[in-house]
Amino acid sequence: MTIKKSFLIIPLMVVAFTVSAQQHFKPGEKISDKEFMNQALTPPMGWNTWSEFGCNVSASLLMEMADIMVSSGMKDAGYEYIVVDDCWQVGRDEEGNILPDPETFPDGMKPVVDYIHSLGLKFGLYSCAGSLTCQGRPGGRGYQFQDARQYAEWGVDYLKYDVCYMEGQDHEAAYRTMSDALKECGRPIVFSICEWGTSEPWSWAKGVGHLWRTTYDIAPLYYGQVNWGALGFMSIIDRQADLWRYAGPGQWNDPDILEVGNGSLTHDENITHFSMWAMSAAPLMAGNDLRIMSDEVKAILTNHDAIAINQDSLGNQAVRFLDMGDHEVWFKRLVNDELAMCFVNRSELPWKMDYNWKDTKIHHNYKTVDFSKQTYGLYDVWKHKDIGTTDNTLNQTIPRHGVLMLKLRPL
Ligand code: GAL
Repeated sequence: MTIKKSFLIIPLMVVAFTVSAQQHFKPGEKISDKEFMNQALTPPMGWNTWSEFGCNVSASLLMEMADIMVSSGMKDAGYEYIVVDDCWQVGRDEEGNILPDPETFPDGMKPVVDYIHSLGLKFGLYSCAGSLTCQGRPGGRGYQFQDARQYAEWGVDYLKYDVCYMEGQDHEAAYRTMSDALKECGRPIVFSICEWGTSEPWSWAKGVGHLWRTTYDIAPLYYGQVNWGALGFMSIIDRQADLWRYAGPGQWNDPDILEVGNGSLTHDENITHFSMWAMSAAPLMAGNDLRIMSDEVKAILTNHDAIAINQDSLGNQAVRFLDMGDHEVWFKRLVNDELAMCFVNRSELPWKMDYNWKDTKIHHNYKTVDFSKQTYGLYDVWKHKDIGTTDNTLNQTIPRHGVLMLKLRPL
């Protein structure tokens, strides 16, 4: 009798949940701030065309990448969005509807989105708050509500919105307009604010977007800046290190696309890059050509221990609590009183570490971790094994530009 009842109750609950979930997304009816924030309770994960393909985007490329996202195990590791960046759009029709390039998207956008959805993945696209995109394609200015409705019709799940050709528009106001348009388009769409940090979006974008770029573009470089302004990944991390207080469920600092597997980053640099993004609760948007991804790069991008730290439900962004110049120690509080700690060697030489936990007390955000009072078990996130406890001195050698990333469990 009881069993029969529960069989009945569960399907009823599912129906009730689906109906109530749909009710909140009626075209023309604005969703609440809470519902909006709930769309990205952990940092979004996916793949973006820009770093490796630039303007060479097409329906077939997106579908091929979606296939590999599944076959490579990336989907199982948590990656979900396939995002087409700039250059998918060529113009607008006489009614102002945005038009995908008929040469590269011969059947339009909808079948591509449907295909990506059929694999259990989600779809994202790019536009711009200005009159043109950064590559001179039609932008969103003046068409925000029309575009949002169009995206909803296509089944778009994620929008990256850039900041070129603003022609005097106030940045915050422009992003608020698009946010309003998305909130009443009838479909949950994650809003990625690509504003380069110029108007300090972390100070106004909570509830407007789910993530906001903190700096200018990333380059596949450990540190420094290339001639057109793009930054190495550690330079970006330096610039957003102090922004930890603005990150949390539904609100993420975005240090840009992952360059893991791109350019001439070494194996250790790729590991450091992924570790710092994981520690920073950064959106994980892979930017490599998945078709030629080596096993080594795949293992980095799908490291489930690092991803679990990135996706931790508290949503904390790591803080650099010890800065010794070439050597740094970062820490991030996790659920269940666990911690993640990352020892970073920025120097050109190996770091022969001799770390005495008993001397370490971390005071952060009105809380203290005192290793002389509490013992933790140490788990190496890259070797996937336990390496002792905080009762003993940690003796390790970290290679040039490498890290030691640990998860700590109170014993
Ligand atoms: C830049 C943006 C990049 C990429 C590019 C496309 O402004 O920061 O991530 O989207 O535009 O043109």
